[in-house]
Amino acid sequence: MALLSLRAILLTVAIVSTFIQSSWAKPLGTGIHKHHSLDTWFLVTEQSSYVISAAGNGYLVNMHWGKRLTQLDDLNAMVVEPPVFSQIIPVTEAREELPVFGGLRYRENILKVELPKGIRELNLQFAGNANITDKTKLDLDLRDGNRTEFLVTLHYEIDIENDIIRRSYTVRNGLDDRVDLSKASSAAWHLPYALGWDEQRELVTLSGEWSQEAMVQTTRLSPGVKHTVESTRGFADHVSHPYFALAQVPNAVNPTTDVYFGALAWTGSWEITIHTDTKGFVRVTGGIHHQDFGWTLEPGESFTTPVFAAGYTDQGIPGARHRMPRHARKYQKKNVATQKDENVFHPVLYNSWEAVSFDLNEEKQMALAEKAAPLGIELFVVDDGWFGVNSPRDNDTAGLGDWDTNPKKFPNGLKPLADHVHKLGMKFGLWFEGEMVNPDSDLYREHPEWVFHYDGVPEYLSRTQLVLNFGLKEVRDYIFEKVAGHIKEAGIDYIKWDFNRPMQGVTMHNYDRNPQEAWVLAVEGYYEIIARLKERFPHLWFESCSSGGGRMDLGALERTDQVWTSDNTRPDARLFIQYGASLWVPPRMQYGWVTDSSSDKSIEIPLSFRFHVSFMGSLGLGSNINKFSKEQLEESTHWIALYKKLRHVIQNGDLDWLVPPSRVGELVAVTESIYNDGDEAVILAFRHNSPFPDSGELSPIRIRHLDENAIYRVTIWQEDPQNPVDEYDLSGALLMYRGLELPSLNKGMFKSAVVWLQRA
Ligand code: GLA
Repeated sequence: MALLSLRAILLTVAIVSTFIQSSWAKPLGTGIHKHHSLDTWFLVTEQSSYVISAAGNGYLVNMHWGKRLTQLDDLNAMVVEPPVFSQIIPVTEAREELPVFGGLRYRENILKVELPKGIRELNLQFAGNANITDKTKLDLDLRDGNRTEFLVTLHYEIDIENDIIRRSYTVRNGLDDRVDLSKASSAAWHLPYALGWDEQRELVTLSGEWSQEAMVQTTRLSPGVKHTVESTRGFADHVSHPYFALAQVPNAVNPTTDVYFGALAWTGSWEITIHTDTKGFVRVTGGIHHQDFGWTLEPGESFTTPVFAAGYTDQGIPGARHRMPRHARKYQKKNVATQKDENVFHPVLYNSWEAVSFDLNEEKQMALAEKAAPLGIELFVVDDGWFGVNSPRDNDTAGLGDWDTNPKKFPNGLKPLADHVHKLGMKFGLWFEGEMVNPDSDLYREHPEWVFHYDGVPEYLSRTQLVLNFGLKEVRDYIFEKVAGHIKEAGIDYIKWDFNRPMQGVTMHNYDRNPQEAWVLAVEGYYEIIARLKERFPHLWFESCSSGGGRMDLGALERTDQVWTSDNTRPDARLFIQYGASLWVPPRMQYGWVTDSSSDKSIEIPLSFRFHVSFMGSLGLGSNINKFSKEQLEESTHWIALYKKLRHVIQNGDLDWLVPPSRVGELVAVTESIYNDGDEAVILAFRHNSPFPDSGELSPIRIRHLDENAIYRVTIWQEDPQNPVDEYDLSGALLMYRGLELPSLNKGMFKSAVVWLQRA
């Protein structure tokens, strides 16, 4: 008997529903519910339902993922006639929660193992154990039909207010022989039909490279085509970011379309595949990249995959853009002690990397700190170049790995500078790249065996450096003690932890287990260092950086205080980068520095425009303030003061792009940060240029999420942070339905405005 098509299932639901209507119970609340008599579970969030069932033949399949359902009995029809597989539409077609390699499954699988006797096929069915905890967590056991001791526990956790489900699973080897995993992706997600033949889905992914992170790409899905986004480099990377969204077209940016979206919490090599079949069903899989993955389970051992979080909204990409960053922030708050308090804002920081590069010493940094403090800077960070004794870090060819203060640059260590910075009323931050080593370093000379390598195979340099094997405890312990020593001695409040090259030669030596485990051990080593540092120094803030935004995946977001989005600080480029990153990175975690970029001096970008772009998340300053005129210093002071007045809205609010940055004709971009149910909003509006003689006026910008019955005080700043260009009252209705006019953005290059809306 052929597998029921969804249409047939829905039809049957309708018929059965009418029949049983009189016995329906009150609408299902949020939380996880089990059907009273069937092995069917309803995961209900505020706006969505996710229904899984093993009630048919024991295979665990997805019944529904989409808008919220109200009744347990809604799905009686499906369980009355469960999916049955045949040679016509075999198990390949089924929407299995954990499609494995084995049997007649020919679509993307997420688990491949080698069992004893060389058997590489699995056949998993519900084992009868289900556990619901706190109404938000569900564990379901699956067993291999032929080997009852091979157990997989699927983990589900729902984020009710953000309509997101977190999935992972644990594989346990209860056999008395070893089992080898060669693929263990985290989850398979199944989307329903696009609603009709004339409607299609568009895949939103992010491409990039160094200095060009998170470029939003859209691709139309086609039947029979599989798309893959991935990193094989050992870290999350900039070439793509572990995020996807699938939106119904046309009009993905319209806030009323169905969008499915997800992100992987894994800072290592990863892959996400999106496959569409001829009927328009879409299967999304994702997790640790399987290319060179390997993990061996000895009898009694288990392996748990990272989390793949995904959600549904009927509010289009803007709805997805609110939910995933909120979700990341929620888990950051849960896990990161320094992030629990909503009223602790990310400090305005100064970092001289772009201004002076490696040219730093105690005296010069003290002088910069003295200039930075009166501007309102709250955190002073010393970047690369402060270390290296026998191989001084004067450029990027030497010194990495030698975490001792360069005696020429800092003859008395870092404490005098840190004390000075503290006396000036600022926190003190320091840069590390703990997982790396230059061959020209004492550490490499002493421990060449500590880098990832194969004996007899060349070690390929990138940025003149090699990657330390953080899978080795002795390496982690050594680096931890070095870093901890500085934190303790100098009184460091914050570290920026960098990672500036991809991995190669990833293997373990003298290891009695599977050497391919190195890929996972390296990432876990990074996580462990963060956890240990934060445990030893509970006040410590940790920034995840990787040549800019190479490590801003959900895994890093849930463990750290902030991420560095890009080494490209040119403001017009930043608009595009921030547009992409804002799909999953919480606004407060994204730093933007005001710098002197670009190096092309013919491009004059006003300081106001630079500040306004950097206002979009947490604010930093990276300009050469030694070269700032008195007027520039004064202007900066006032922008920083204004930012501090607005940052509760920007850092804690939700971000919308009212006008996404566009490359067509001219660059216009407008964002809105909305706070506290529409009590306040901050609008940042940018108009770069128009090449056309009469490009017309910028149309009124329709603001979202206000209270239409409220009156708002509207305050607008442009070039002068001290004197608003306009201040007046308008109703929420007018601001939302007719729009806000910004006539002075119409003339000239690089015009921008900050608008503050406050409910009167
Ligand atoms: C990377 C970071 C930069 C800076 C340099 C220092 O490129 O992204 O911000 O810290 O390293 O070498």
